[in-house]
Formats: sequence, C-alpha cells, structure tokens
Amino acid sequence: MKGVILAGGSGTRLHPLTKVISKQLLPVYDKPMIYYPLTTLILAGVKEVLVITRPEDAPSFQALLGDGSEFGVSISYAHQAKPAGLAQAPLIAEEFLNGDGFYLILGDNFLYGSGLGRKLQNLSSVDGAKVFAYKVSDPTAYGVVELDPTGRPISIEEKPKTPKSDLAIPGLYYFDKDIVEICRKLKPSSRGELEITDAIKEYMSRGKLAVEVLPMGTAWLDMGSFESLLEAGEFVHIVQSRQGILIGDPATAMHVRNNSK
Ligand code: G1P
Repeated sequence: MKGVILAGGSGTRLHPLTKVISKQLLPVYDKPMIYYPLTTLILAGVKEVLVITRPEDAPSFQALLGDGSEFGVSISYAHQAKPAGLAQAPLIAEEFLNGDGFYLILGDNFLYGSGLGRKLQNLSSVDGAKVFAYKVSDPTAYGVVELDPTGRPISIEEKPKTPKSDLAIPGLYYFDKDIVEICRKLKPSSRGELEITDAIKEYMSRGKLAVEVLPMGTAWLDMGSFESLLEAGEFVHIVQSRQGILIGDPATAMHVRNNSK
C-alpha cells in the first residue's frame, strides 16, 4: 500500500513561525508535525511513503525521516516547487504511484480515534475514491460535502460562504489510478490552485465516490493556524499524560500494526 504526504506550502497563516522553518516540521507537543500524518498512514497499512516538500525544505525532512527504515516503512521524496494546490500532488507522485491506488494525506492534518486504522485498512479495494466527512461547527474553511438521506454525496464545494451542510472533508483521501488523469485536466481555481475538491467532484459525477462520516469520538484538527496548532499540542499532551501512551509516534504505530496481524 502506498501513501503520499503533501508537506509543501508556505504556511503564511503561521508567520513568523514558518518564515524559516516548514510548517510540517513545527513541534506539536513532543513531536514534529509530520509524525502525525505519517503515523496515520502507517496505521492504514501503508508501506511505501512519498513525502512532497518545498525544494528548500527537503534536506530537513530527509534529515528527520531518512529512508523510513527507523519506522519500518520506505520513504522517498519529491518537490513541489510552487504551492499550486493539493491536486498537484498526484501529478508530482505519478512515477511513484505507477498506476496504483494510494492514500493522500495533508502534512498538517491530525486524525485520532478508536478504530481509525482498521477503517483505513479496508480501503485498498475501493473502486474510485473515498473521502471522509467530519461534522464541524464552522465548515467555511474546508471542502464541504452534502449527503442525501442514504449517505450518497450530492454536492461538494470548496470553502463555501454558505455551506450546504456541516460536514467538512478532512485532508485524508484514498484515490485509485484515475486520479492522475483527472488532475491533469483540472483548471486552477480563483485562488490560483488545482483544487483536490474539483478532482473529488469528478469522481462524484462518475458515480465513483464513497463518503464515510467519521464517528463522533474521532479527533480531526488541521494544524495550520495558531489556535489549531496549540489545540493539537494540548490534545496530544492530555491523552498521552493521562493514558501513558504515545500518539502520533510512527515507531509505536508500526509496533501496533505488527502486533494486530
Ligand atoms: C484543504 C482542502 C480542503 C480540505 C482541507 C483539510 O484546504 O482544499 O478541501 O477540507 O485542506 O485540511 P487548505 O488547507 O488548502 O485550505
């Protein structure tokens, strides 16, 4: 199973923290941010990881994660020269993907919840794309999906001013091989980016999009603002100190994965 972590972008919402360091290397309590999405991929059963970064940040990520052997996965690297949108990731990753389905996770997305790993492990047989939906109080900063009463997606919008539902789409997706051809045909949005939401909409119009609402106990945070970065750090601290476990730790996740077979 393959996974791509998109850890590019200039992190302007976190300036000046991100003026000289990549957002995805900032500390989230006791680990660098990228450990958390990497852990999610490991729990999903991913063995081969591609980390996409800005060219200038690549040496730091390589110094931190190396070839992945420390965590029991293989990690390779690619560059995103300009922050031209999430939907550029499958195009950058085309050679790595080599026609296989894969998980795409954003380097600033934090997901934690009981049974999440098992839920993700079942995706490798998906025909098309699968995304998740998560109820939030303010969906306007996210991709938003509207479902019909049977749970089928009927509309998807990126950062709508008047959202049709309160279901945001977290930055963790499963795509089959068609994603490369779909992303190649996308046109930049009004913010000048290739939007992953447009690619997901294309899967929906082909009748090949599955959406699963994450259960209430799941924690999903994006860590791209001062507030959410602090909240994620507090969350990790509270759970770890109360339960005496490590969360978002790739080596621990691999241990869990190996022992649950
Ligand atoms: C991106 C996606 C959006 C998604 C969000 C999750 O937003 O465009 O659909 O809901 O990630 O974090 P961005 O981080 O580019 O604002």
